[in-house]
Amino acid sequence: MKHLISPLDYSVEELTDLFDLADDIRENPDKYAHACEGKKLATLFYEPSTRTRLSMETAMLNLGGKIMGFSDAGSSSAAKGESVADTIRVISCFADIAAIRHPKEGAAAVAARFSGIPVINAGDGGHQHPTQTLTDLLTIRNLKGRLDKLTIGLCGDLKFGRTVHSLVNALSRYKEVRFVFISPPELKMPDYITEMLDEKKISYVEHIKLEDVIGRLDILYMTRVQKERFFNEEDYLRLKDFYVLDTEKMSRARQDMYVLHPLPRVNEISVEVDKDPRAAYFRQVQFGVYVRMALILRMLEIEV
Ligand code: CP
Repeated sequence: MKHLISPLDYSVEELTDLFDLADDIRENPDKYAHACEGKKLATLFYEPSTRTRLSMETAMLNLGGKIMGFSDAGSSSAAKGESVADTIRVISCFADIAAIRHPKEGAAAVAARFSGIPVINAGDGGHQHPTQTLTDLLTIRNLKGRLDKLTIGLCGDLKFGRTVHSLVNALSRYKEVRFVFISPPELKMPDYITEMLDEKKISYVEHIKLEDVIGRLDILYMTRVQKERFFNEEDYLRLKDFYVLDTEKMSRARQDMYVLHPLPRVNEISVEVDKDPRAAYFRQVQFGVYVRMALILRMLEIEV
């Protein structure tokens, strides 16, 4: 039984297979409409979510399966003190596959250890968010036609943003990928990520000003400052509007650069940028459904 806890749980070859399947699903949705009949997905969300939970549920419904779950830990027996290990043992009696989001790093790995069904990490604290990474990679592959030979800028809260940690891990396996990390010093990329890049001799630079580097990028991955992971309100208020991508900054970017964002957006991309054809963050959401459909099929070992 295979779980998805980190994007590194899948080899580059397995990811290519997943993205090929996602592309086929996008082109031939009817072919897959009954693939998961009789199967159930449980979504166990101990933290707020719009996209990930509803995208997972849409994916299962599009495949003809059924969904169950909770979107608030307070309405589950976690409120009475039940552990993640016990919860997943119980859910294993009800469902065929589970997606779990939890504020604690490592919670999905704990769930996988005690689970009788495949577990998908839908975000664990500031650690990893592998299905967002699958979404990001499929989006980049479709927009740029490749996942190698790219200069990727990641901008904003690189310290607490789990999506950037997962994305850098995943992209570090593709040839000639260069990273440009753009953040205030307080929110820079954690050492464990830069040490991994140093070890693999992968090129990265760190900058504070977005306008100094935006012209070099193939992809600009914007992120929100993660209010919920700050220890004090004062620091959050000081840093929350550090970056605002607007039309003036976009005018310095290449015509073939695309802007991605895992969403939700707060202030870091001005709404005027939404009209720019290079703004790809809502198309990215749609790609997320296709890749989660492909993931469910592969994890349940269903061939169509
Ligand atoms: N991108 C993402 O994880 O969004 P949600 O928090 O809405 O699931």
